[in-house]
Amino acid sequence: MIKSIEDANIKDDMRVLVRVDWNVPVGDPDVGGVREVLDASRIEASFSTINYIKKCGGRPIVMSHFGREGDSLEPVIDFAKKHYPVLTEGVEFLENLRKNPGEELNSEEFAKELASKADIYVNEAFSVSHREHASIVGVPKFIISYVGFHFLEEYQKLEEAFNPEHPFLFVLGGAKFETKLPLVQKFLNIADDIFIGGALAIRASEMSDSAGNPIADNPKIIFPIGDIKALDANIETLETLRPKIKQAKFILWNGPLGNYEKGFIAGTMALARMLAQSEAKVIVGGGDTLAILKPDIKDEISTHGFISTAGGAMLDFLATGTLPGIEVLK
Ligand code: 3PG
Repeated sequence: MIKSIEDANIKDDMRVLVRVDWNVPVGDPDVGGVREVLDASRIEASFSTINYIKKCGGRPIVMSHFGREGDSLEPVIDFAKKHYPVLTEGVEFLENLRKNPGEELNSEEFAKELASKADIYVNEAFSVSHREHASIVGVPKFIISYVGFHFLEEYQKLEEAFNPEHPFLFVLGGAKFETKLPLVQKFLNIADDIFIGGALAIRASEMSDSAGNPIADNPKIIFPIGDIKALDANIETLETLRPKIKQAKFILWNGPLGNYEKGFIAGTMALARMLAQSEAKVIVGGGDTLAILKPDIKDEISTHGFISTAGGAMLDFLATGTLPGIEVLK
């Protein structure tokens, strides 16, 4: 069993190293956006844990990665401090963990260095727990470790999806090829229909299944109608999905259907509306997907489903039943 932060006897200036996932979507000036936080769900998801540590008299030391290139986390920290008073006093922040190559290499030295900063460790980053990185699987080898409130909620809610009701429709979009394409294979055994959209569709259309057959020939697979390189899902594509959504008892959705950085969000929003109105149990995840959906749609979906802050981690967890970041805490 993994231990909840409530099992830790936090008190008297105890230093608590909290791994959060503040890898939030930020506007890209190169495509006409403004460099600001587009969706703060992941930041807000860490409040209950940070608050709890402070209330118990502990000292939270918050650490996260940001992006893949080692960009500074400073702008995100500044944004968070400006908007959320809970973060202004008594909280220490570390710089983007991926600035140190030891993070992604899961170096023991880096894990030790991080662990030496605190008395206990709390994983509040379910959405990164599919990564065997030092701050996820290394640190718990050196100090007593727990999971945060949001981590537990993700774990418990997603566990409910292990034996999905059928028909099960899986909708996969976005562009993280290396994380998502292997999952198509896994979900071919679990889902009844798999729609692959977004930039992912281009690569997936060239893929073969384990028997060497093009996955495009698999009757379970649905690709966008028309030009597969189109920047958004068109009406014909959405109309193909409509009856599947109506019949489905369980729908899992991860990743936008269009190039949202360039403003192509209409298809994604139309899909979200259909899911909000469906009668299926709907689980939605992925940082980019969350950034596009309006709060009212998220609320509507939450009434018969769950909005996860996790993307790749959510998919790995559903496909394998666990994550490296969970195993290390057992
Ligand atoms: C995510 O955005 O899914 C997590 O923050 C993990 O990011 P990564 O895919 O860059 O490891």
